Amino acid sequence: MTNKYTLGIETSCDDTSLALVDCTGRVLLQKRGTFDEDHRPFGGIVPERASRNHLKVLIPILEKLLEESGLKMSDLMGISVSNRPGLQGSLIVGLVTAKSLSFFYDLPLVGINHLEGHIFSPWLVDLDEKPLEIIYPHLSLIVSGGHSQLVLVESLGRYKLLGKTLDDAAGEALDKFSNSIGLGFPGGLQVDLAAQKGDAFAFSFPKPLINQNDFNFSFSGLKAAGFRKVEDLKNKNKDFSEKLIQDLCASYLESLTEVLVCKTIRALDKFKPKAFCVVGGVSANSILRAKFDRVSDERGLPFYKSKIKYCTDNGAMVAYAGSLRIQNRMYSESNLKTYARSLEGDFV
Ligand code: KG4
Ligand code: ZN
Repeated sequence: MTNKYTLGIETSCDDTSLALVDCTGRVLLQKRGTFDEDHRPFGGIVPERASRNHLKVLIPILEKLLEESGLKMSDLMGISVSNRPGLQGSLIVGLVTAKSLSFFYDLPLVGINHLEGHIFSPWLVDLDEKPLEIIYPHLSLIVSGGHSQLVLVESLGRYKLLGKTLDDAAGEALDKFSNSIGLGFPGGLQVDLAAQKGDAFAFSFPKPLINQNDFNFSFSGLKAAGFRKVEDLKNKNKDFSEKLIQDLCASYLESLTEVLVCKTIRALDKFKPKAFCVVGGVSANSILRAKFDRVSDERGLPFYKSKIKYCTDNGAMVAYAGSLRIQNRMYSESNLKTYARSLEGDFV
């Protein structure tokens, strides 16, 4: 079993991504379909369009994956699919495909919470790299377009939820800010690139809940402050020069990342894990990664972040989380369903 590959299918949101990953987290091949252009005119993801896009590309991507890898479905160890949380229509396309393949080829099927995929994404390596040993317990900061939460990862399947956002996720606050200053959707990467050349102290934005002695987040106030600042500058007929946009992005990200780092440090102090990770789409952010590198150096504590290609939703992370479950015979039933939200028990 040790060298066998698991197929991962990720369709929880707008991107379709499939990958083949071995039992130790080495990625043989990953393929994806991205549809940012299709959703861009609407300033956000349109669920109906997302489901149709998955339907269009999923099977062609699978065919290419098998052709390029030289593997046959019958060579695989099992199939892993994200069945929660996410857009119902999108999840259903992935799940129905996974169920049909599992039934036809008589392969074990695992439905995973896609956040569990993010949790194991720092341990994905290229085929020619040495596999990494997963460290337990570790602290995981999950920051994406739909989620912001701090989790203590005690073992496979045991995730203690320490805190979460009370309203908007960090990625949502970035995407909407990006829209308001004309950098478009999805905006996390654009705001990141602009911020790298800006002055982080040119403007002052709130750092919600930073002094509150818990592990929860709130980004709706920061999002509103961002809108107000942009409105205010527009009313004053300010020219939205490249420099102004860079300073706005750097200052906005300064507040957002400070809150994330401060709460993570608080959790490190309290729970004393053996390592910490940052995962999810927002973990691709260069400023956040640099701040956590410093925290790791200062404390001498191992810090794991995913390769950039495994930060946003991807099939490889789904394949690896599923592979770990399959290796532990934690299979799903054939009546597996999709869920818009996490299940009670996913995080305790
Ligand atoms: O994990 P993900 O692909 O989807 C969800 O599970 O929600 O995360 C997508 C989020 C988007 O909000 C996107 O703007 C953000 O990740 N993102 C970034 C960067 N790249 C993607 N945010 C900040 N800096 C980046 N470089
Ligand atoms: Zn995600």
